Amino acid sequence: MYKTLLVNKDNPMKNKDFKKLDLVELYNYSNERVLIDREALQQFLKLKDFLMKRNFEIEINSAFRSIEEQESIQKDFLERYGEDYCRRIVAEPYTSEHHTGLGIDFLLRVDGSFAEDNLMLHSQSAYYEQVHKYLKDFGFILRYPKGKEEVTGYSYEPWHIRYVGLVPAKIIYERNWTLEEYTKYFQGILVLNKKKGMTSFDVVNEISYLFGTKRVGHTGTLDPLAEGVLIVALGKATKVVELITSSYKEYIAEAKLGISTDTLDITGKVVLKEDIPDNIDITKAFLNFPRKYLQEVPKYAAVKVNGKKLYEYARNNEDVELPKREVTIKDLELLNYTHDTFTFRAVVSKGTYIRSLIKDIGTALNTAATMTKLTRTKQAGMSISDANDLDDIKNNNYKLYNIDDIIDLPVYVVNADLEFKIKNGIKIPNEYDATDKVIFKNKDNEILGIYEVEGEYLKVWKNF
Ligand code: DAL
Ligand code: ZN
Repeated sequence: MYKTLLVNKDNPMKNKDFKKLDLVELYNYSNERVLIDREALQQFLKLKDFLMKRNFEIEINSAFRSIEEQESIQKDFLERYGEDYCRRIVAEPYTSEHHTGLGIDFLLRVDGSFAEDNLMLHSQSAYYEQVHKYLKDFGFILRYPKGKEEVTGYSYEPWHIRYVGLVPAKIIYERNWTLEEYTKYFQGILVLNKKKGMTSFDVVNEISYLFGTKRVGHTGTLDPLAEGVLIVALGKATKVVELITSSYKEYIAEAKLGISTDTLDITGKVVLKEDIPDNIDITKAFLNFPRKYLQEVPKYAAVKVNGKKLYEYARNNEDVELPKREVTIKDLELLNYTHDTFTFRAVVSKGTYIRSLIKDIGTALNTAATMTKLTRTKQAGMSISDANDLDDIKNNNYKLYNIDDIIDLPVYVVNADLEFKIKNGIKIPNEYDATDKVIFKNKDNEILGIYEVEGEYLKVWKNF
C-alpha cells in the first residue's frame, strides 16, 4: 500500500484497503492500546528522539481507527462540542484517514501535562506549531493546515500529522501543498543512473513506492546487465514518455570476439566459439560500418511477433522469423581494442540493440562477438554525470526536471485567452512558424499542452 493513500470526503477508505494495512500495536502514554502503520511508527520514534533533544515531549494520542471507533468519536464530539464543530473536525466513518493507520493525533507535554480535550489543544496551538517544521524530515506532513480548509474539507488541526514517506513529505512541505494537491499536481522527470543487476521494471517499482504514485513510466529499457541513464517520468509527465523514448541514445559498450551466446551478451549460454582471424582490422571495420542498416532484433527481446514476445518463443525453443528494423548509427567511435576485445561509443536511434550491433560488427570482422558491458551515457541530452541514483532519491537529494528541460521542442508562453483554448484542446492558427511539435506554457510556467502542426493550424497532441 502506498503511504500516500488519499482518504478524504471524496475518497472513502475501501474494504480492500483495510486488508492491505501493515499495523503494529503499542501502548501509549496513558496505557491505551494504539494500532499504527509499521513504517509510520518507526519514523515517529525517530521524530520523538529528535524532539526530545529539543525539549519537546511528543506522544501518540490516536492513530489507526476502525469504522466503529470513528463512529464512537463522532458521537462523542457531537455531544460535547455540537454539530458545527464536529463537522469541521471529525470525519464521517470511512472518510477518516485514521483508517489508514498513517494519520496520527499527537500530544505535546505542556507545563508538565498533556491536553485533556480539544479546547485545551486549540489553546496550545502556538506551542504545537514549533514542531511542524521538523515533520518533513521524518516523512510526516501537517495534514489539515491553516489556509487550506477548502482543499482538505477540515478546520486547522495543529495536532494531526500524516505519514506519507520522506520524498512526498519534502515536496509537500516545500510547495506548501496538501496531500490532495500532491495527488493531483505532482509531476516531473527524473534522470536516473540504473545500477547493474536491476531490471528497468525494478527501478520503476522503487520510484513508484518512494514517490507514492502509480503513474511512473520509463523511457527505454535497460537490461539487468546494463547500467546508466534511465529517464523516468512521474505523474502527468508520463504523457511525454514516447517523445523521450524516441530520442537518440549514447552508449559505451565492451565486447569480446570469438564467442557468441544465445542472448548476444555475456549473461547468455555460449553457443559458438570461433578462432579470431589473425589479420582482423577493427579500426577499418568501424570506419566502414554502415550508418543505416536493417538490424535483426535479438531472439531474447520483448518485441512481439503474432502477439507473442520473442523471448517467449526462444524459451520454448519455438522457431520464429526475427523481424528486422532500420536503425541509424549516428556516431560510432572505437575507443580501445585488443586482439579479442573492443570498446566503443555509439549514438543510436530508437530501437537499436547494442548487442545486435556488436554481433554485426563481429560479422564484419568474420568472427563471433558478444557484449560484455553496456553503459548508457546519454539520453535526451542528459548525461550520466547529471543522473541520480536510487540512494539520492531515498536521501531526498535529487533533481526533478520539468518536461521542457528534457524535451527539445520550442516553448511559447501564452496569454489567458490562448491558455483557455489550449487547456481545452482547441485548434489554433499556426502563428509560430512551427514545423513539428511545440510546448505551450502559461505565465506561471505551467505546461498547458503540446501541439502539433496540421496544415495552417496547430492541433492538440497532448494536453495537461
Ligand atoms: N480529524 C480528522 C479529520 C478525522 O476525524 O479523521
Ligand atoms: Zn486526527
